[in-house]
This record gives sequence, C-alpha cells and structure tokens, in this order.
Amino acid sequence: MIRICFVCLGNICRSPTAEGVMRALIREAELDHAVQLDSAGTSAYHVGEAPDRRATAAAKKRGVILAGSARQFRRGDFSRFDYVIAMDAENLDDLRALAPDSAAAEKTQLLRGFDPSSAPGAGVPDPYYGGERGFDDVLDIVFAGCRGLLAHVRARHGL
Ligand code: 4NP
Repeated sequence: MIRICFVCLGNICRSPTAEGVMRALIREAELDHAVQLDSAGTSAYHVGEAPDRRATAAAKKRGVILAGSARQFRRGDFSRFDYVIAMDAENLDDLRALAPDSAAAEKTQLLRGFDPSSAPGAGVPDPYYGGERGFDDVLDIVFAGCRGLLAHVRARHGL
C-alpha cells in the first residue's frame, strides 16, 4: 500500500480538495487497492470542521466529492505515510521543521513540484480569504499537480 497525505494550513480548503481530486484520479485508474489517501493541516485552527463549503461547491462542479473533518498533522504521522505533500512553501517549511529525522523530511514535497508546467517552488494559492473564483483556480492547479503525482507514483512503484 502506498500512503499519501496532503497537507495545507487549515485542512478545510486545499488539502481536502487535493485528497478528493486524487481519490477521483485513483478510482479512474483503478488503483484504489494500491493507494491510501488522507489530508491534514499544519495548524489546529479548524480541527473537527468539514471542508469549506466554497471548496466543496467548486469540487462538486468537477464531479469531485470532498469529505472528512479537519485534523492537525502530527510528528507521529510521518511514520504512517510514504508521501507528505504540501500545498505551499510555508506548509513545506512547517512540515520539515516538525519532521523527526531526515528520512521523514525527505517524504515532504510540494504538490506543484509534480506539475511540469509549474514554476519551481510554486504553491497552491490559499483561497480562504479570496472570492469564489479562487476556488476554481485551486481546482485547476490541484488537478494538474495530482495528475503529475499519480504519474510519478505509478512509475516509481510500477503500478
Ligand atoms: P487551507 O485554507 O489551508 O487551504 O485549508 C485556509 C483555511 C483557514 C485559514 C487559512 C487558510 N485560516 O487562517 O483560518
């Protein structure tokens, strides 16, 4: 089983979106048996909350269902995942600071790093304080990143 956790700040907008999009792509590729997904936030701001309704609505328009309730990423989570995928550079820094050792730190990568059309170091913009349009942009960006991540995982693990 390959285990992937998507991480943003609040775990109510970007990382649940990435989890939902990846779940849809995994299902389409008939790889449900091989890949396990989760998401979490670096902060505890929204622990226990459902995904943001604007993110849920934008995802639904693309046939993507967002589920789960927000939780904070903990140091112990590093041992439960093979890939810890950060939405932006700040999330990546926070995760690397939390990592118990270099093996854990090496599990962390930026989602957009898997999108060949993305600039190095680019993040998924935080849509929380923006308008509705921000959530549609997030979907586009997350789809591109998740497609690249899926291709990487398939190649690396022979799936
Ligand atoms: P997310 O969005 O990190 O994509 O879930 C945010 C959610 C909440 C806040 C910031 C970003 N906040 O500051 O409460």
